[in-house]
Parts: sequence; structure tokens; C-alpha cells
Amino acid sequence: MLILLPAMLSSQGPGMPTPKYTDKGRLVRPEGYREWMFVGANLGMGYTEGQQPPKQNYHNIYMQREAYKAYVSTGRFPDKTMLVMEVLSMGTKESINRNGSFEDKKIGIEVALKDESRFPEKWAYFNFIGEGGKPMADSAPFKKEQCWNCHNQHGAKDNVFLQFYPALRDAR
Ligand code: HEC
Repeated sequence: MLILLPAMLSSQGPGMPTPKYTDKGRLVRPEGYREWMFVGANLGMGYTEGQQPPKQNYHNIYMQREAYKAYVSTGRFPDKTMLVMEVLSMGTKESINRNGSFEDKKIGIEVALKDESRFPEKWAYFNFIGEGGKPMADSAPFKKEQCWNCHNQHGAKDNVFLQFYPALRDAR
């Protein structure tokens, strides 16, 4: 007989890695995301007109496989969806490479998290790149004006910039 546990019936699907918080309500840096679903990579994007970013960095975007599958079948990002944006420096002339660029040193991660009962705006945004590039163990959400506004206004779907992530863009 098949027994359905409540977790299996929720929109998140079974076994989805969920956000963890400290006693002070700070988000604990997610681990293991390189085994999540890889949805897209961007190079050197800057968001302000006429302004070149000081460094050309790569962004690799991952989300939980369960959240990805839920999005593909329903068109909605389930509660507790996490998008991890890993930032890496751009490498050029190393080993046998003479042209083009590759993803070099890991700089750190930023996270977009949908937690509907915790955040009045549903999504919150976090940075785990500390002073001098040191990874932060946990992080507090940014103010709405710092991140949420732009994501809400310009993200193609529910605050997410899926117009830049092929695996999500082409999924539906
Ligand atoms: C002016 C617009 C703008 C602001 C402000 C902004 N972002 Fe973003 N963000 C983007 C764009 C465009 C992308 C698309 C992907 C990329 O940059 O590689 C993105 C992608 C992301 C992603 C990947 C998941 C997603 O939602 O698409 C994370 C995580 C993220 N930003 C975190 C932050 C954090 C943290 C802040 C505040 C400190 C912030 N962003 C502020 C424009 C913005």
C-alpha cells in the first residue's frame, strides 16, 4: 500500500531542501546547491544604463530540483523555492586557453528565497559574500528597495529573471 506523507502532498514535493534560519531569523547559507538544477549562466551583466560593471563575473543560477519540476508542471514557483546565484571571476589565459574565457575563482553566492509565511513580499534577497570575499555563515534579508523592487518590476515571472535562464525560459 502506498502511504502518502503530508510532505509528499505539499506543492514542494518530497525531499526538497528547505531554508534554515538562525534563532535571530537570519538565513543559513545553503549548501549542496551544485547538485541542484542548473538553470542558466550569465557573464558580466550590469543593470545600470551606461555603467560598465567593474569586473566581468560569471553568474551560475541553481534552484532545487523539486522546485524546478513544480515550476515546469504548474508554472508557479512553490513556497520555499531558492535560487542560488553563484558568482565566479572570469579567467582568460590559463592552461591551453588562448581565446575566450572560463569560470575561474568562486567569489560567493547570493540567494533569492520565496518564503510566503515569513516575508510579507513573499520573496527576500540575501548576500553571503562577506568582507574580503569571506563566505558568511548566515545573512539577513535586504530592504525591499535594495533588491525586491527591481526583481519585481523587471523579473519576467514572479520576481525571477527567467528571461535570462534558458532551462526555465524554455520549460513552458
Ligand atoms: C536593478 C535591478 C536589480 C537589483 C536592484 C537587484 N537585482 Fe538581482 N538580478 C537582477 C538581474 C537582471 C538578474 C539576472 C541574472 C544575472 O544577473 O545574472 C538578477 C538575478 C539575481 C539572482 C538570481 C535569481 C533571480 O531572482 O533571478 C539573485 C539571487 C539576485 N539577483 C540577488 C540580488 C540581491 C541580493 C540584490 C540586492 C542586494 C539584488 N539581486 C538586486 C537585477 C537586479
